[in-house]
Amino acid sequence: MADEKIITERLGTDGSDIAHAAELLQAGKLVAFPTETVYGLGADARNAVAVAKIFEAKGRPRFNPLIVHFPDTKAAAAHVEMSDEAQRLADAFWPGALTLVLPLKPGSTICELVTAGLPTLGIRVPDHPAATQLLQAFGGPVAAPSANLSGLVSPTTAEHVLSGLMGRISAVVDAGPCEVGVESTIIGFEGGATLLRPGGIPSEAIEACLGHGLKTPTASITPSAPGQLESHYATQAPIRLNASCQNPGETLIGFGHVDCDLNLSLSGDLVEAAANLFSYLRKLDEQGVKKIAVCPIPDHGLGRAINDRLRRAAAPRPDRPLTKD
Ligand code: TXA
Ligand code: MG
Repeated sequence: MADEKIITERLGTDGSDIAHAAELLQAGKLVAFPTETVYGLGADARNAVAVAKIFEAKGRPRFNPLIVHFPDTKAAAAHVEMSDEAQRLADAFWPGALTLVLPLKPGSTICELVTAGLPTLGIRVPDHPAATQLLQAFGGPVAAPSANLSGLVSPTTAEHVLSGLMGRISAVVDAGPCEVGVESTIIGFEGGATLLRPGGIPSEAIEACLGHGLKTPTASITPSAPGQLESHYATQAPIRLNASCQNPGETLIGFGHVDCDLNLSLSGDLVEAAANLFSYLRKLDEQGVKKIAVCPIPDHGLGRAINDRLRRAAAPRPDRPLTKD
């Protein structure tokens, strides 16, 4: 699966090309599209396998939460609890280069891999006619990080997108260069309006709109580098990694043809495993299991991101002692 070659279509922005791009998204495929900031790599945010393919295509060694794109504020607000301040910023700056991180509404159809298991969701209404048309034609939430290979700069033309992702994604909608050229400004609201990432809309304009200053993030939510969040979903139950057997009292998560309680992917498909990871961890927490063990996951392709997340979920915490193998 990992190195399967895909033909990448280069699409324009007329009605039939946009309709085709929307069909590809509906079929769970990846489509890069222009926004006013940078090109995004889009997938259906309700389809965990499609979202897992984003991480695979980018070669991202870790899962971080993705921004979800909507054609208008009403569609975006359906998925989150909008505070008064968030609504004020949305009214002032959307469509535009602003992402708001807000609590997910219970029952939202966004899959757990999009939020990396966090209880919050980053939402944005981009200001680009081709993006709006695509989002309208698709009719659902589109998760999209910048459409570059992991570790490289964000793309502002379709050529940039193709130079990294040709053969890894199904299509790119080419609308020429992006006007803004830097990513959106990200504002969170935990403990007051906070600048999580500077970007296309100056923080001064946001502060002027709110009538007060923005906070800077505390250590736990500071991205240590762009795109890297320290906070992450960790289970209540301790996790033992690389388990070759199931000890008494453990719930075993397997991979491939093994005897276990929950299998990330019976066929050993890393994309399927990534798609299941966060929902399985959450499910086990909800069931109140006491101990979790996880079979070895191959450490290549998406397996690296899965192992990174499992290692961090398994790391000792003050409220939870280290378990020994
Ligand atoms: O302009 C942009 O924002 C572009 C276009 C395509 O919309 N997108 C973009 O996405 O830059 P990406 O994945 O490259 O950066 C998303 C950033 C990451 O640093 C991520 O950690 C943060 O948004 N983020 C997303 N959801 C979050 C959440 N729930 N809490 C905190 N940070 C979040
Ligand atoms: Mg990026």
